[in-house]
Amino acid sequence: MDKILIVDFGGQYCHLIARRIRDVQVWTEIISPEAAAQKIQNDDSIKGVILSGGARSVYEKNAPKLSRAFFDCSLPILGICYGHQLIAHMFGGKVNSGKAGEYGITDLFVQKSDPLLLHSLPAHQKVWMNHRDIVVRLSAGFVSLAHTAHSPIAAFANPDRKIFGVQFHPEVTHTQYGMQIFKNFVFQICHAKKSWTTSRMKDDIVQEAKEVIGDRKALIGLSGGIDSSVAAVLLSKAISNKLIAVYVDTGLMRVDDTAYVRKVFQTMPLALRIIDAKKQFFRALKGVEDPEKKRKIIGKLFVDIFSAIAKKEKSQVLVQGTIYSDRIESGLTAHSATIKSHHNVGGLPKNLKLEVYEPLRELYKDEVRTLARALKLPKVMLTRQVFPGPGLAVRIIGEVVPTRVQIVRQASAIIEEELKKTLLWKKLWMSFAVLLPIRSVGIQGDARSYKYPVVVRILESKDAMTANFAKIPFEILEKISTRITNEVREVNRVVYDITNKPPATMEWE
Ligand code: XMP
Repeated sequence: MDKILIVDFGGQYCHLIARRIRDVQVWTEIISPEAAAQKIQNDDSIKGVILSGGARSVYEKNAPKLSRAFFDCSLPILGICYGHQLIAHMFGGKVNSGKAGEYGITDLFVQKSDPLLLHSLPAHQKVWMNHRDIVVRLSAGFVSLAHTAHSPIAAFANPDRKIFGVQFHPEVTHTQYGMQIFKNFVFQICHAKKSWTTSRMKDDIVQEAKEVIGDRKALIGLSGGIDSSVAAVLLSKAISNKLIAVYVDTGLMRVDDTAYVRKVFQTMPLALRIIDAKKQFFRALKGVEDPEKKRKIIGKLFVDIFSAIAKKEKSQVLVQGTIYSDRIESGLTAHSATIKSHHNVGGLPKNLKLEVYEPLRELYKDEVRTLARALKLPKVMLTRQVFPGPGLAVRIIGEVVPTRVQIVRQASAIIEEELKKTLLWKKLWMSFAVLLPIRSVGIQGDARSYKYPVVVRILESKDAMTANFAKIPFEILEKISTRITNEVREVNRVVYDITNKPPATMEWE
């Protein structure tokens, strides 16, 4: 199978590059700079190399590098951001530390028509930037293709050697022609052949699961969300009744989660256990306000419950529906910072006796959805919105108590109901309510009220790495606001969150 090798210089979006290449049905492998030189010598299936972005400067003492000999290979190379600067530097060009950084959506001007990398792209386009250093001079054999107001050489090519660099990030959806640039590189320049398909992905996961689990019994945590559902279906195909699917009712679930899990999974070839642990969770969360503490407490309780069941069932493997964006934000990939400890990943104790297996670890949410469609899973599973492992606890700022959970649950159900009546529903990533632990004055039924505000958060996203708040028509927001203040007794004010990710995360905690 033809493959594109991606050298990981530690950028937040490195894995996203791999994902974009998979989108054009070509397989990729991510590798460290230290291992890259040997890899290209020993693997004939590699048709081209992409050098990822990274947070360092090429002049820093311990900045990750590649040997000069690496560039003597005959493979086409595309450098992105740090990769772009590294190529320029290695070939004797000049990189400067910019006076100011260049972050976010930027205008790119193509000054030289290029028959390869920028083929068929307009002279003016929007790209996404995230850097401080800039390439200011190229060595012989290289030509500058494009510039921005801040970067004099925002794209370059060495057509004879087939080496290219772009200062911007084609892998981020905000770059208008990012996919076209990848297609040009992968097909026109590297001549790679398509062979990566959803059905192959499904078969590979089932095969891998058979090998990893063998004859053993495995537990899987079901949350009612699409990731764990898809993981459970794939695992049940691999090991059938040796799979014990455990759904823990934490008391922090949405209105219909427990009923949904019972209905959908009880007919599948797996052993379903529904555990009522509401009291345990509320007891453990009493008086806790700090978001990371909440996540850790919830994570530990899950592990305790799973460990006890595993002991009873004599099972040694814990399967989780963790996907790639959960791992990167939990700081579990090389060089990534911990944004929040997703309970199912960052929160696991070091002395966990169970072997953890994450069959979806390399995938993004939309790939999981594609997989779900390929598996012909029930429609209700496909249209369910994403729901975080720690549940409604991360949608209540401050202490989590049953009365507050009920407010968020009821308000969220209203938001869902109203949006489901519209065509917008299908385009949304998530829609939910957040409860703020403050009160404000209102007037209801001619009397003064002093109650909680609820934040309505409605988001669009492709892969959870970035998200935009949805531009919902005011009439729909008004309907939602009126229903919440009419039906949820403890609320007298509704506000709409108009923050994108970044800078905010989707969940409030
Ligand atoms: P953030 O808030 O990090 O959320 O922008 C990105 C997506 O991840 C979901 N999320 C989680 N999913 N365990 C999960 O399985 C978790 O601990 C967790 N925290 C956030 C969130 O709902 C959003 O869809």
